[in-house]
Amino acid sequence: MKRKLVVGNWKMNGMTASLREIQKLGTAHPAPTVDILVCPPATLIATAAGLMAKSAIEIGAQDCHSAGSGAFTGDISAAMLSDIGAKAVIVGHSERREYHKESSALVSEKARSAHAAGLIAVICLGETEAERAAGQTLAIIADQLDASLPAGTTGDNTVIAYEPVWAIGSGLTPDRTQIAEVHDFLRDRLGERIGTSGAQAIRLLYGGSVKATNAAAIFAISNVDGALVGGASLLEKDFTPIIKALMD
Ligand code: PGA
Repeated sequence: MKRKLVVGNWKMNGMTASLREIQKLGTAHPAPTVDILVCPPATLIATAAGLMAKSAIEIGAQDCHSAGSGAFTGDISAAMLSDIGAKAVIVGHSERREYHKESSALVSEKARSAHAAGLIAVICLGETEAERAAGQTLAIIADQLDASLPAGTTGDNTVIAYEPVWAIGSGLTPDRTQIAEVHDFLRDRLGERIGTSGAQAIRLLYGGSVKATNAAAIFAISNVDGALVGGASLLEKDFTPIIKALMD
């Protein structure tokens, strides 16, 4: 049975003192019925993974390089993340696609590298406001999904997060029909790619302005298996109600 999943994406936020928030999460959820993954900045991963080793909270990363090692100054490989205790890595977040000009082909390479290192790849995709306004949402999602997924994708090594770019950090969320349309579409298209049972095994997360007040409504939508949470994952007091809503 596939477990639901909530992922906290801290982005470029968090100093060593913020590790306390992850420890509080561990205390608040000693035996959760859903999977909880926190992705702090790379600087905190090793310490967080050590602190949380005996807890139900898993620690992940926000990006990795596509190669295993080499002359790539400033970059971090999936194998290195695994070596310091990360269990997963987010790839293809829209902020990486936009600010670092990452293509879906590169995202696929990163996911492949994550798989090779034994990490779960949390592959993000989503349309911009202009693409939605132009009626291109499903075409964009199809293109990104097709090109961002490496061969060998399974429910054990891959999670997909639908994050409309215009909903991230904006306080705006799509309505339930819009989320359902994309998530149903993703499930069907995954089925064409890896078969129906393979597609059923992949967790489909919604991300973009998820918070305590809208989480339950979002989790009730068809084919939503959890959430990718940015701002509301930074403090345990904000993240816990979202986790509880997913457990209900
Ligand atoms: P947000 O970010 O929850 O702050 O909108 C989500 C994300 O970018 O993963």
